[in-house]
Amino acid sequence: MIKYTLFAAAAVLAGCASQTGAAKIAAAPASPVKVALAAEPAASAVAGLATAAPPAAYEICAVCHTVSDDGADGMGPNLRGVVGRKAGAKEGFGYSDALKNSNITWTPAEIDSWLTDPGAKVPGTQMYQGVADPAERKAIIGYLQTLK
Ligand code: HEC
Repeated sequence: MIKYTLFAAAAVLAGCASQTGAAKIAAAPASPVKVALAAEPAASAVAGLATAAPPAAYEICAVCHTVSDDGADGMGPNLRGVVGRKAGAKEGFGYSDALKNSNITWTPAEIDSWLTDPGAKVPGTQMYQGVADPAERKAIIGYLQTLK
């Protein structure tokens, strides 16, 4: 009984949609997706943001770090502009004394050894996430360099 009712309802809907409605429904999913994809790089270029998409290896970093333009911190400090910055120096973030006093400047090479094993490079740091794969570290650092 329920089956027949549903069938009837579907038939009525299909009937209603048979003219312009059906065309609208078919067109709807395709166009907004295309617009979003096309708009994104253009918007980034205008705003002066990074045009590079983060590499897959960066996903884990994004759990704790933002790279947003407003400098908002997560569990870790915002990483926009980190390359060339002094370690533990971003205004408003509660760093460990260990990182604040490390006297590191974040060159690509320093970030590479940091990401290899943060706790070994800066004993007492609050960041534990390392990246074992050198190719992944390279991809991450290349991405960080685009975040001016
Ligand atoms: C679980 C959270 C967490 C994850 C995941 C994480 N971090 Fe961090 N990160 C932190 C914290 C917390 C600090 C500050 C450490 C301190 O004060 O000792 C930090 C500090 C840093 C710094 C130094 C920033 C500065 O201003 O001195 C860099 C660079 C960094 N992280 C990069 C990364 C990258 C790249 C990844 C991904 C591979 C990553 N982090 C993953 C929490 C995290």
